Amino acid sequence: MEARARRRPHLLTPPPLLLPLLLLCGECSPVGGCNETRMLELLPWCGEAFANMMHKVEVWKRCNLSEFIMYYESFTNCTESKARVVGCYWPNHLAQGFVTDVHRWFFHNCTVDRPHWEDPPDEILIPLIVVPILLTLAMTGLVVWHSKRTDRLL
Ligand SMILES: *[C@@H]1O[C@H](CO)[C@@H](O)[C@H](O)[C@H]1NC(C)=O
Ligand SMILES: *[C@@H]1O[C@H](CO)[C@@H](O)[C@H](O)[C@H]1NC(C)=O
Ligand SMILES: *[C@@H]1O[C@H](CO)[C@@H](O)[C@H](O)[C@H]1NC(C)=O
Ligand SMILES: *[C@@H]1O[C@H](CO)[C@@H](O)[C@H](O)[C@H]1NC(C)=O
Repeated sequence: MEARARRRPHLLTPPPLLLPLLLLCGECSPVGGCNETRMLELLPWCGEAFANMMHKVEVWKRCNLSEFIMYYESFTNCTESKARVVGCYWPNHLAQGFVTDVHRWFFHNCTVDRPHWEDPPDEILIPLIVVPILLTLAMTGLVVWHSKRTDRLL
């Protein structure tokens, strides 16, 4: 009974550390290998295709999601297929960073002057919103865990 009680802290402490590791493992290379270099070479092709499609949308309509949602979908589809072709999971942080950059480039004007911004589909929102929240929670957990541990040592 006593030995068990003494061992408990060791069993309890790992989870906060494991959480970020588990999250990062969403980006682990699958068997066969994810060639990130190759993926970053392919992604701009999607960006250009998206840019060409967006040029067909009149400027004043560019902040109206229903005008270009199909283009946006095929853009995210494109990044997904390029990522998978080179053996990477999707979404992953590099592809996500690329999508976010392209998104900012096209829609930074839309945040000014009340955008006609309707709800984007979940497949866009989930990686963009949930991942940072989970990371924040994980980091908070880590900090709390660490400070508790420091308290105990003092
Ligand atoms: C990854 O892709 C780059 C660029 O196409 C290529 O030079 C490199 O050999 C590839 N690496 C692997 C491990 O296949
Ligand atoms: C956005 O575009 C759709 C489809 O063309 C149109 O029905 C809708 O009225 C537009 N919304 C705004 C706020 O302009
Ligand atoms: C995106 O991919 C899905 C699944 O492959 C497909 O059903 C959908 O039609 C594609 N959307 C576009 C806009 O290409
Ligand atoms: C954003 O607005 C500026 C000024 O109106 C314009 O010159 C620029 O081309 C716009 N950018 C995009 C990506 O539409």
